Amino acid sequence: MQVKRDKEMQYKEICFKAMEVVKEAAAYVRERHEQRKDLHIEEKGKQNFVTEVDKKTEQILVDGLSNLLPESGFIAEEGTSVKKGDIYNWIIDPVDGTTNFIHGVFPFAISVGLTENEEIVAGIVYEFGLDEYFYAWKGGGAWLNGEAIHASTVATIGQSLIATGFPYTNFTYLTQFMNSMDYFMKNSHGLRRLGSAATDIAYVACGRYDGFYEYGLNPWDIAAGLLLVKEAGGEVGDFKGHKNPLFSENVICSNANNYSEFQETLEKIMLAE
Ligand code: IPD
Ligand code: CA
Ligand code: CA
Repeated sequence: MQVKRDKEMQYKEICFKAMEVVKEAAAYVRERHEQRKDLHIEEKGKQNFVTEVDKKTEQILVDGLSNLLPESGFIAEEGTSVKKGDIYNWIIDPVDGTTNFIHGVFPFAISVGLTENEEIVAGIVYEFGLDEYFYAWKGGGAWLNGEAIHASTVATIGQSLIATGFPYTNFTYLTQFMNSMDYFMKNSHGLRRLGSAATDIAYVACGRYDGFYEYGLNPWDIAAGLLLVKEAGGEVGDFKGHKNPLFSENVICSNANNYSEFQETLEKIMLAE
């Protein structure tokens, strides 16, 4: 019991220290957002953009988090570090919602998760538009700017507000995705698409959304969010119902009451031939 409590304290400490690093990175992003006209924009792939702000922000995060935990490695979107840690790895999206950032639209966010032997043990999502720090550590609950947060409790999809991300580069499941939108438009409180998966998932953790799903995601989009939702009492999985979607490339997050219906619905629609 004591050992478990000590471990939890360690995760909490590391989460708060990592938050200081995120704050430093966020100050830089905010400054550059205010002077966006000189942005250097590259297209990594079709409709997939990166700016020097993504790269510099990731560098600030990698440097700060390396100092915090020198033995740790990284899975970082822009490839600033490819060092692999034996036990600890940071999973980083320096700017989640780059297209929003480029166009001056909120939300966009920094997302930082920490894995210990492949299990996520700390996570931070900082969303710039509302100046909101969402954070969680294993066993410590989920928090938003100092207040505990909880997933919603609605029991059915019919009562749920659902969020998603539109496919923009991987159109493999476009037909199934259109069918899923058709279904949720007609059978839920409505569908939203904000343009930042990390923010969408944080909003499930604090009960603003009752469910989120998307395909074609990477671990850096979701790592921190997955822990937020679990620590907030919600559930996470993939379309097939596997409970560890970090590397699944598709994700479902919802509250604990509507999860089964949500997952079964998505399995039926998204995995249809
Ligand atoms: C994207 C955003 C978007 C989601 C995409 C992500 P990026 O991340 O989270 O909401 O629909 O799947 O790739 O490229 O802005 O970091
Ligand atoms: Ca992202
Ligand atoms: Ca990004």
